[in-house]
Amino acid sequence: MRAGWYETNGPARQVLRVGELPDPEPGPGEVLVRLAASGVNPSDVKTRAGSRPMTAPRVVPHSDGAGVIEAVGPGLSPARVGERVWIWNGQWKRPFGTAAELIALPAEQAVRLPEGTDFVDGACLGIPALTAYRALTTDGSVKGQTVLVQGGAGAVGHYAVQMAKLLGAASVLATTSSPEKAAHARAAGADAVIDRHREDVVARVRDLTGGRGVDRIVEVDAAANMRMVPSLVAQDGLCVVYGSSTSEVMSTFGPMILSGVAVRWFIVYELAPAVREEAVSRLNGWLAAGALQHAVARTFPLDEIAAAHEAVESNTVVGNVVVTMAAGRR
Ligand SMILES: NC(=O)c1ccc[n+]([C@@H]2O[C@H](COP(=O)([O-])OP(=O)(O)OC[C@H]3O[C@@H](n4cnc5c(N)ncnc54)[C@H](OP(=O)(O)O)[C@@H]3O)[C@@H](O)[C@H]2O)c1
Repeated sequence: MRAGWYETNGPARQVLRVGELPDPEPGPGEVLVRLAASGVNPSDVKTRAGSRPMTAPRVVPHSDGAGVIEAVGPGLSPARVGERVWIWNGQWKRPFGTAAELIALPAEQAVRLPEGTDFVDGACLGIPALTAYRALTTDGSVKGQTVLVQGGAGAVGHYAVQMAKLLGAASVLATTSSPEKAAHARAAGADAVIDRHREDVVARVRDLTGGRGVDRIVEVDAAANMRMVPSLVAQDGLCVVYGSSTSEVMSTFGPMILSGVAVRWFIVYELAPAVREEAVSRLNGWLAAGALQHAVARTFPLDEIAAAHEAVESNTVVGNVVVTMAAGRR
C-alpha cells in the first residue's frame, strides 16, 4: 500500500516519507479499511515534530480518516464489508494511522458514515467533532445556557458553535481574530463574535450577558486565557479546557475561588466507552440529518503530506486540512 510515514521527529519536509509499505492484515476483532481521506490535526503535527517521543521505529501519522471496509478479521461478520466508515483514534497508542491507503484497527473504531457525508468531511469527526461535542456535554447540559467558544473559527471551535446551538444553548458567543474568521463563526450560528485582538473580551462578554457572565467556556488556549476566566463566567460557571498554547497554565487563586468556577480538562483520545458511544450516536444522527456544516479548507494528495502538515502548522488555514488517497473523495 502507499503510505506516508516518519522514522524520527522533526520538520515535516525533513522527516515525512511517502512510499510502499506492506498491506496490513485485520487481526481478530479488527476491520481492514481502504481509506479515501485522512484528517490532519494539530495533535498529529505536534507529535510528528516531537511533542511526544516516538512510540515505534516507524509511524504512519493521523488519527482521523474515512473510507470503506474492505475485509474483516477472525470473529467478525463479513456483513460490514463495503460499509462506508469514519475512523477515530487511528494513531492513538498505535504506530500505523490513517495516512495510508489501508488501515487495520479494532472494529469499534470504524463507525458507519451516513450516506450524504463525504469522506473528506468524515475525516474531520474523530478529533474536531467529538472534541466539540464532549466540551459541550461534559458536566451537564447547555440547554438554555450562554456559552462562550474561544476560537470559534477553529476546527474544533466551528463544530462547537454549531453543536451548542443544536444542544439548545440560549446564546452562543465566540472569539476570533479576523473578519474572515468572524464571518465563519457567525455562519456556524454564533449570536455574537468578539475580536480578541481588537476588543476587550471581558468587557464585551459582560456587556453581552447583562453583567452576569457565561455559564460555560469552551477553552482552546488555557495558558493564554485562564486569567480571564473568573471575569468571563457567571457565578459557579464552568470552563471546559481542551487546548493550551503552552504546557504551564497560570491562574490567580483569589478570583478563581470567588467566581466558584469549575474547570474540566479532557483529551478526546481517552473518552470513556459509554461517553464515546453516546457522542458517536448523536454525531451520526446529526450527520444523517445534514445538521452539521463541515469546514474542509484544504485537501492535499498523499504525496504532498508534508505540505499538509505545514499548512496546519501555519495557523493560517480557517478550517480542516485533509489528505486524500487515490480511492477518492466521496
Ligand atoms: N484535548 C483534546 O482532546 C484536543 C482535541 C482537539 C484539539 N486539541 C488542541 O486544541 C487546539 C486547537 O485545535 P483545532 O484543531 O481547533 O486548531 P485550529 O483549527 O488551528 O483552531 C484553533 C483556533 O483557536 C484560535 N486561537 C488561538 N489562540 C487563541 C487564544 N489565545 N484565544 C482564543 N482563540 C485562540 C485560532 O484562531 P485565532 O488565533 O485567529 O484567533 C484558531 O481559530 C490545538 O492545540 C489542539 O492540539 C485538543
